[in-house]
Amino acid sequence: MTQWFEDDAFWSDYQTFIFQGGQLSDPVRDVDRSLRLAAPLPAGAAVLDLCCGPGRHTVELARRGYRVTGVDRTAAYLAEAERGAAAAGFAVELVREDMRTFRRPGAFDAAFNLYTSFGYFPDPADDRRVAENLFASLRFGGVLVMELMSREVLASGFRARDWSRLAGPGSPIVLEERRLSQDWAWIESDWTLLFPDGRTQTRTVSHRLYSGTELAALLRGVGFAPVTLHGGLDGRPYDHTAWRLVVVARKG
Ligand SMILES: C[S@@+](CC[C@H](N)C(=O)[O-])C[C@H]1O[C@@H](n2cnc3c(N)ncnc32)[C@H](O)[C@@H]1O
Repeated sequence: MTQWFEDDAFWSDYQTFIFQGGQLSDPVRDVDRSLRLAAPLPAGAAVLDLCCGPGRHTVELARRGYRVTGVDRTAAYLAEAERGAAAAGFAVELVREDMRTFRRPGAFDAAFNLYTSFGYFPDPADDRRVAENLFASLRFGGVLVMELMSREVLASGFRARDWSRLAGPGSPIVLEERRLSQDWAWIESDWTLLFPDGRTQTRTVSHRLYSGTELAALLRGVGFAPVTLHGGLDGRPYDHTAWRLVVVARKG
């Protein structure tokens, strides 16, 4: 059965909603902060943007002089990343591959996995495989920065329903309805688009909700050490003030 994240049409249809402006999605600020957490990185370091999407961070990392490889499975997003890099005048490598299989031993000084691009797989062994791939793909001394929604952060302000209006003529209103599994391990969200002409479209997305300690244990289990947790890319503590789960995991 095709999973929601394997459907290119889903990523196109919901792109505006997923990446709409606002606090969550300023790529320049997030690259600044991610690089601060990953420091020190050598000038011109080889950097992996795993699940790079339309290349928001990929192009920004290239602008900072890094040799960037973006990996994603969604063809339209990679095409957009390609266009963005070309328009900005930077060469980036873009690879269409599933994160469960992408592995390039010892190739990268740093790896970034940003904006809740982890935890999609129903089988937890697949998440572990991704973590193993990331560990293998870093050189000794390399660093991984992950940023995602977590169980604690969601629990601290859980809303079962939300709505938002996307900017621009013809843009839809978006309704979100969220359901949790009884053990808080998994969240399912129905995203309904209500267009001004009366059309509606609903898709359900779901992913695993990691606690900070669970994700740290997963990463330590595949070899990362030290592993430190933060509550945002700004480096705040992972405590009651956290608004994202950010993990900085080093390979040696
Ligand atoms: C929430 S988006 C984030 C994209 C990017 N990191 C950003 O912040 O702009 C998640 C991305 O993961 C990609 N993705 C989903 N499942 C994947 C898989 N199994 N292998 C590789 N990429 C995947 C999607 O195509 C999408 O671009």
